[in-house]
Amino acid sequence: MSMATILRPVPTAAPPLSDIALGLARCERLWRAVVRHRRDDRHAVRLLATPAYEAWVIGWWPGQSVPLHDHGGAEGVLVVTEGVLGERRLEQGRLVPHLLTPHRLVDLPVGLVHTVVNPGLEPATSIHVYAPHLSEMGHYDPESGRRIHTEAIISEPPALPSAAGGVLLHPSA
Ligand SMILES: [Fe+2]
Repeated sequence: MSMATILRPVPTAAPPLSDIALGLARCERLWRAVVRHRRDDRHAVRLLATPAYEAWVIGWWPGQSVPLHDHGGAEGVLVVTEGVLGERRLEQGRLVPHLLTPHRLVDLPVGLVHTVVNPGLEPATSIHVYAPHLSEMGHYDPESGRRIHTEAIISEPPALPSAAGGVLLHPSA
């Protein structure tokens, strides 16, 4: 093996989505200034985008929800950082409820169909990380469970520079 081969930089794999989501949840200073809780609409901000993944922070006023949907070809993870969220997952033809409490990592595998609501009396905040980027969401009829509509997701510029991704993995930096 030549010296050039030995010294060639080894491509680094993208960090696990769970590390990014938990790192963001811990680094409140990275999302507190941009999260909004609005009575009129659930508010999503695209927080961070790299070629490998993107992250969103969502503010949920009590009672706000997103109807039955999937995430296209993206896999993801979700972490609630304050408040609680109620999720119902379509499993074998029925909607199975889950309570999403703060700092618990929730996997969002490709093919997942679910609804999410803020069932509490206080605003809630959640961090979502997707890979690849979320480009479409399928929407489903809650009665039949059939996909009825595909929504194209328009990417907005991220609120944070992509270099912030490094801070997530070293939060004391
Ligand atoms: Fe979702």
